[in-house]
Amino acid sequence: MTSSSIRTVGVVGTGVIGGSWTGLFLAKGLHVLVSDPAPGAEEKLAAYLDSIWRTLEQLGLAGNASKDNYRFVGETLEAHYGELDFVQENAPERLGIKIQLIGEIDAGMRPDVIIASSSSGITSSHFIDNCQHPERVLIGHPFNPPHLMPLVEVVPNQKTSAENIKAELSFYKWLGKNPVLVKKEVPGFAANRLQAGLCSEAYSLVRNGVLSAEDVVMAKISGGGGGKYGFQHLMRHLGPAMEGWLEDMRAHSYDFGEDSLAVCEGSVQEMLGHVDPEEVGKQRDELLVKLLSLKVGASALV
Ligand SMILES: NC(=O)c1ccc[n+]([C@@H]2O[C@H](COP(=O)([O-])OP(=O)(O)OC[C@H]3O[C@@H](n4cnc5c(N)ncnc54)[C@H](O)[C@@H]3O)[C@@H](O)[C@H]2O)c1
Repeated sequence: MTSSSIRTVGVVGTGVIGGSWTGLFLAKGLHVLVSDPAPGAEEKLAAYLDSIWRTLEQLGLAGNASKDNYRFVGETLEAHYGELDFVQENAPERLGIKIQLIGEIDAGMRPDVIIASSSSGITSSHFIDNCQHPERVLIGHPFNPPHLMPLVEVVPNQKTSAENIKAELSFYKWLGKNPVLVKKEVPGFAANRLQAGLCSEAYSLVRNGVLSAEDVVMAKISGGGGGKYGFQHLMRHLGPAMEGWLEDMRAHSYDFGEDSLAVCEGSVQEMLGHVDPEEVGKQRDELLVKLLSLKVGASALV
């Protein structure tokens, strides 16, 4: 299966992630069939697509893109499996649901159609036991919201074929994403592990009275430049000292207990208590659109 042969996409589950994927697929000119068993899901999706379409227009639509090029087919895609060239599954992050759904989809779908799950932590090895064609099952883990955030982690299981991994990476690239291949199924995949490392230390610094939450943010966004001599030079220079820091960090790592949570929450409230999260989310999306537009045409590592 190649990106150019993908015309009709199935989206299973139209919550936060499935709705956003649907918008992106439509913006790229694909035809989308969607399903979700929740009452009111169809209306909710229509309203959501209305709300993000202006943003997708700003980012640039494919010539044949239309907000209406989708069909809400009900609780399941079952009657439409034969029409689909690719499936993105976005049901709740519960193992039982994933096992049942992926098994059903696999049983009904042409064997050459890739089934990608948006799962943010359950690896696909956990839900391929019922599959006749596990070689076409993998994780395509997006970041919220997928129509804006460039990163997608492609996480195969041991049975996913090399051909399908390649096809999936190339499909996500074609969608304008920055896919990365997570070569081993590790808990949390990769990007959230990086995030967990950083967050754990940030929480620990606040918990232990070293920085306020506000200054954690300032330290993160205003520092962290790089030198011109490269990685090896940096590590020879700072590595020995860093070993000591890491030892101290491990000794004072964040404990996730109620007391620690309360200290961090207090500091976060001082910084954000007066802020409307809805408004911040809106501003973030507007900034992301500007940033993504600036990055178009820029060189490596964007
Ligand atoms: N929210 C995030 O930030 C985020 C980020 C990346 C990945 N994910 C992953 O994406 C997936 C979906 O998460 P979400 O945040 O959109 O959840 P959500 O709760 O917003 O949406 C899940 C949707 O699935 C529907 N659903 C329930 N049972 C179903 C079934 N049997 N078949 C089809 N649809 C069903 C629900 O009605 C709901 O609309 C999860 O695996 C999650 O881990 C979430």
